[in-house]
Amino acid sequence: MPLTYRILPSMLAADFGNLESEARRCQEAGADGMHLDVMDGHFVPNLAIGTAIVRMYRDRLPALYRHVHLMITNPHEHVATFADAGAQSLLIHVEPEYDIAAAIAELRSRDIRPGLVINPATDPELVFAYLESIDEVLCMTVEPGFGGQEFIPEVISSIRRIRERATQTGQDLDISVDGGITIDTARQCAEAGANVFASGTFLLRSDDMAGEIRDMRRAVEGARS
Ligand code: DX5
Ligand code: ZN
Repeated sequence: MPLTYRILPSMLAADFGNLESEARRCQEAGADGMHLDVMDGHFVPNLAIGTAIVRMYRDRLPALYRHVHLMITNPHEHVATFADAGAQSLLIHVEPEYDIAAAIAELRSRDIRPGLVINPATDPELVFAYLESIDEVLCMTVEPGFGGQEFIPEVISSIRRIRERATQTGQDLDISVDGGITIDTARQCAEAGANVFASGTFLLRSDDMAGEIRDMRRAVEGARS
């Protein structure tokens, strides 16, 4: 099956005084959904977005897909609350100590698409044991915690290894990237096998988000041919 390419503005870069209209702007610009960053001030030094905002988006813009990235130390304790709040994909990091298999199983039982996240320096083989039970691997292309950072090109080799592994087993795995994503870095990631692109500063701060999304889509869809 050919990969489905998705472009998801990261709402961390939105104007927080206008969260609803910012998301509407993304929808009208042709985004495939939104990326929502949850931070606990512990796994990462920053604090951001919680269940109230996920729920608000579910209620006000139900058609805009909610791709929720948990940057927290105890993801397993929050799976149920984010599921109830309306997360549709839930991305949980592999670095903290918890029962990853149990958290994935709980997500499945609630009809949420489970995904595992690795930091830039994390060995991509850590996700191999779980690949068949998840729908997505998110490769962080910056250190998690803040928007507006520089893309880390070393992550490209991790993307390539994960795509090779998924191809060997015939799995339609989504591979997403997050951090410093522009048209150029999105293309580089797509060449290595990524098909889902979270982009905050570049898309939300552009004067022409629709044009950037169109150009990014064209760049990533053409990257592997
Ligand atoms: C970083 C977050 C990202 C961030 C991306 O920890 O996970 O989703 O919002 O922002 P940009 O695209 O500005 O790097
Ligand atoms: Zn994120």
